[in-house]
Amino acid sequence: MALVYAHPYPDRSRANRALLEAVRDLPGLDVRPLFDLYPDYDLDVAAEQRALVAAHTVVWQHPLHWYSVPGLLKLWFDQVLARGFAYGGGRALAGKRCLWVVTTGGELDAYGPSGMHGHPFAEFEPPIRQTARFCGMEWLEPIVVHGAHHVSDTELARTGERYRARLAALEAEGGARP
Ligand SMILES: Cc1cc2nc3c(=O)[nH]c(=O)nc-3n(C[C@H](O)[C@H](O)[C@H](O)COP(=O)(O)O)c2cc1C
Repeated sequence: MALVYAHPYPDRSRANRALLEAVRDLPGLDVRPLFDLYPDYDLDVAAEQRALVAAHTVVWQHPLHWYSVPGLLKLWFDQVLARGFAYGGGRALAGKRCLWVVTTGGELDAYGPSGMHGHPFAEFEPPIRQTARFCGMEWLEPIVVHGAHHVSDTELARTGERYRARLAALEAEGGARP
């Protein structure tokens, strides 16, 4: 299982750090902290692709930035999910599962037509979901933490437990899949 972790300021993270700590010692998990590995944005594309090939499940975990992924994860999409590897004749990711784990500063009720963010949160999901599907991956029900600055420690811990249980179950199933 590959967990692609994209937090630009990991030392200042509360929500993502708590979620990552909840899962990072799971057996079979290859955590790829992009901002630690590539502080100069110079991705090792071959290494990233190798990690994906070895994985039965790919996790994308990050804080929402401008209704999307942080810039380094976007660069990772652009360079790692390359033509001939992930699409356009390449089928390296086909049949793998993809889990999106995202935190938002905005509260759930700020995501709606009358809220600050103008649209339900679900309307921001399709570009990420379709990126996975275009590569032939199976899209799993995402884990979303809204109001990441205000969510209680208890709620965050509960989400961390849920995250851990889901990854453990995926790992248990994973051996049976390519
Ligand atoms: C550059 C930038 C852009 C952001 N854009 C959004 C956004 O579009 N929607 C939102 O709800 N929160 C946005 N936020 C807030 C982050 O999602 C929030 O700080 C993060 O989820 C908190 O997680 P952490 O404790 O792991 O840092 C943004 C934050 C930054 C720094």
